[in-house]
Amino acid sequence: MEDAILEVEDLHVTYHVYGKDPVKALRGLDFEIKPGDILGLVGESGSGKTTLARSIMGLVPAPGRIERGRILFDGEDLTAKSREAMQSIRGRDLTMVVPNPRAELNPLVPVGRQVANVARVHLGLSKAQANRAALEMLQAVKISDPERRFHTYPHELSGGMAQRVVIAMALVCSPKFIISDDATSGLDVTVQAQVLELLNRLVSEKRTAMLYITRDLGVTAHFCNRLAIVYDGQIVETANTAELIEYPMHPYTLMLMAAFSQNPRLRSMWTKAGSRIASEAGRQACPFAPRCVRAEPRCYQDSVALRELRPGHLVRCHIPVTR
Ligand SMILES: Nc1ncnc2c1ncn2[C@@H]1O[C@H](COP(=O)(O)OP(=O)(O)O)[C@@H](O)[C@H]1O
Ligand SMILES: [Mg+2]
Repeated sequence: MEDAILEVEDLHVTYHVYGKDPVKALRGLDFEIKPGDILGLVGESGSGKTTLARSIMGLVPAPGRIERGRILFDGEDLTAKSREAMQSIRGRDLTMVVPNPRAELNPLVPVGRQVANVARVHLGLSKAQANRAALEMLQAVKISDPERRFHTYPHELSGGMAQRVVIAMALVCSPKFIISDDATSGLDVTVQAQVLELLNRLVSEKRTAMLYITRDLGVTAHFCNRLAIVYDGQIVETANTAELIEYPMHPYTLMLMAAFSQNPRLRSMWTKAGSRIASEAGRQACPFAPRCVRAEPRCYQDSVALRELRPGHLVRCHIPVTR
């Protein structure tokens, strides 16, 4: 078995907002990603996805704090690294693509030079070498007429083209690991499909590992080889994509699938009107219980661990759906 490039162990992150109860955004996350893996992390807004991405990048904003756990990247714990060490890792070995590409780009600098600058800073290339690398990268992300586009400014590009430039910047140093945090959700559906296909090809060619974060379970089915469903800062179900799509066992996963199916009968079967937020005591048991159509008293009282219920298929539920 190949070693994981990224291992997250028992990660706890809390935001300590002054005068308020602390927000426990991540409450014991465990997963690993191997080279060539694309892990889809799926969960609704507020489930802690961006907090995870920022934790890996070493960019948890104040008043957030990593309380517990380790993030092993290539065998080294990132949570123990200095700010300077993280700065040199970020952008070279570890990169992130976020939505709203124009905000990522400097409006005053031609896009080709922005890609070249990343290569100069992180790989120490000469100007000519960096320009060549940038041009190759613009070609790789399928920007038409790259010689000319090299000199254009971000505002002259469409949203889809700007996203490609951001991807070029993320990949120009051949990172070992890339995080996409909701990066394609702002694009038109067809453009999104093109960008995903491109990312897929680039990461599989270079065996880059990728964490693909999204609220959209539908996209992940084609794009990711493994899935992790996250609810309230914990993984509730994880398996290979085909396995998870065929044998979903957590009621939350079934609720997400039903919502995606657009079938009203299926939707009402898995959705219950209920409080979205469990009490802090309830969160120690199953935080999904207040919204779960299958919940029993024990779901509000007893905590439950991720358990392997089928080979490679882990579920955190007292009453998993089995057939
Ligand atoms: N800077 C912050 N200050 C305080 N609370 C935050 C901050 N960022 C996120 N949170 C809280 O942490 C939880 C997880 O947020 P986030 O990681 O952004 O989730 P997602 O990306 O899945 O929408 C939410 O309850 C959110 O309100
Ligand atoms: Mg987010």
